[in-house]
Amino acid sequence: MKTKIISVINQKGGVGKTTTVINLASGLSARQKKILVIDLDPQGNATTGLGLSNNESSVKTIYSVLNGSCKIFDAIQKTKFENLDIVTSNVDLSGLEVETASDAHRALILKDELTSYLNDSRGLYTHILIDCPPSLSLLTVMALVSSNSLIVPLQTEFFALEGLTQLIKTIERIKNNLNTKLDIEGILLTMYDKRNKLSSQVEKEARDYFKEKVYKTVIPRNVRLSEAPSHGIPVLIYDKNCPGSKSYYSFTEEFLDREKILESAA
Ligand SMILES: Nc1ncnc2c1ncn2[C@@H]1O[C@H](COP(=O)(O)OP(=O)(O)O)[C@@H](O)[C@H]1O
Ligand SMILES: [Mg+2]
Repeated sequence: MKTKIISVINQKGGVGKTTTVINLASGLSARQKKILVIDLDPQGNATTGLGLSNNESSVKTIYSVLNGSCKIFDAIQKTKFENLDIVTSNVDLSGLEVETASDAHRALILKDELTSYLNDSRGLYTHILIDCPPSLSLLTVMALVSSNSLIVPLQTEFFALEGLTQLIKTIERIKNNLNTKLDIEGILLTMYDKRNKLSSQVEKEARDYFKEKVYKTVIPRNVRLSEAPSHGIPVLIYDKNCPGSKSYYSFTEEFLDREKILESAA
């Protein structure tokens, strides 16, 4: 079986990328999918949110992979959760852009490492989820070049759609040059506040413009979602009955349904 590589991407910070990576990973792993999360953000929030350390100097991280000092296989760590592994990140990763400045092919490093890993691993994972940093820098380009598809979380607040034009331009550029099959799999509306008129306005605008690309599931603003990371566990385990859990559970189902449709169309 082919491993699908999905990046969760939006150059804005605080829109729910990491929360989506953690909880989609958790939802899929509960559905017996085999998941590898790659934390590609120097902040290491997916790392700590899944219960691992982002300040232990002895461990191999995604930075070690990208600077050529180890292979992906050697950097994979188990989480406490079944079917869910991770390549962690820490602040060292923020030096990569400068350190690789003279390497003309640096945008391809992650893709090449993933390709060689997948050639050797014989489909151990069904999905690899990449948590992107809040920028359109080298790291994000690496993720775009490596991915089969993209999930874009969109915070249902003012200016939400504004940055999207730039993101779509970047995606198109990568598509034309380095990754012809790249496409947005879906747009996920996050932090929805049903008491706030703005939320429904942004939802309407997004659905009018992006049509069926926008997932039916909407993630509500829910304090449990913001508490879970400090305990190092996905909300689906922290409090499986809260609105945040229920929404990420529905999102996982919708993601799997859409994937089935995409596969049968391929
Ligand atoms: N639906 C939500 N409801 C409440 N808080 C949320 C929700 N989604 C994310 N958060 C919180 O908002 C902050 C930013 O979310 P995060 O997923 O880290 O965004 P990003 O990775 O895009 O920067 C975090 O503190 C997170 O716990
Ligand atoms: Mg993040």
